[in-house]
Amino acid sequence: MADPRQKKICETIRELMHTATTGRSPFTIMRPATVDTGGAPNARVVVLREANDGVLSFITDLRSPKAKEICAQPLVNLSGYEASSSVQLRVAGRARINTDEERRKKFWNGLLPHTHLLFWSPLAPGAIVSAPEDLYTEVELLNGDSAKLYAHFGLVDVIVDCIDWLDLSTEPPVRCRFARTRDGWEASWLAP
Ligand SMILES: Cc1cc2nc3c(=O)[nH]c(=O)nc-3n(C[C@H](O)[C@H](O)[C@H](O)COP(=O)(O)O)c2cc1C
Repeated sequence: MADPRQKKICETIRELMHTATTGRSPFTIMRPATVDTGGAPNARVVVLREANDGVLSFITDLRSPKAKEICAQPLVNLSGYEASSSVQLRVAGRARINTDEERRKKFWNGLLPHTHLLFWSPLAPGAIVSAPEDLYTEVELLNGDSAKLYAHFGLVDVIVDCIDWLDLSTEPPVRCRFARTRDGWEASWLAP
C-alpha cells in the first residue's frame, strides 16, 4: 500500500476498532448480517468485543439463529456508522464459532457478571413465550448453575477479508476498499 492517504485511512480504521473494543464508540455496536437457511439476509446488532490482527470477535448464544446460520454459511458482513464523522465501515469476512476451550474460558472470565446473565435463560433466543415476563420465571431455574450458562456461551471470530471505508465528511467523499491478499492488504479507491 504505497499511497500515504490509504495508509492513513488504514491506521484510522485500526484506531477506530481499538477504541470500539476497549471503550465505547458508535463502532462498538456493529451489525453482522448472515444468510438464513432459506437464503434470506438476516442482520442484527452486536457488541464488538475484540479486534486483533484482522479478526473481529463478538459473543452470542450458541442456541441463537445467528450461530446456526454461521455454522451453515460462514460468510458474513458487519457494518457500522459513526454519525459525528460521517464514516461508514463495512467488513466482509468468514465467521467461525470458536471451539478453543482455553480462549473461550479466558473470554468468559473477562466478561462482566451482568454479561453472564445474558446466558441465563433456558429458552433459546427466538423461542416463543406466552408473555415477556415468562422469561424471569425461567431464569430463576438456571440461576447459579454456571456450567449451564457457559454451555450457552458462543464466541464468534470473524476473519476479515475486506473492509469498505466511506467518509462523507469531505468533498469529494472518500471511499476506499482494503482487500486481504497473500502478502498483506491491497487498497483501491472506489466511487462512492
Ligand atoms: C445494543 C444491543 C447489543 C446487542 N449485543 C448483542 C451481542 O453482543 N450478541 C448477541 O448475540 N446479541 C446481541 N444483541 C441482540 C441481537 O441484536 C439479536 O436480537 C439477538 O442476538 C438474536 O439474534 P438472532 O436471532 O439473529 O440470532 C444486542 C442487541 C442490542 C439492542
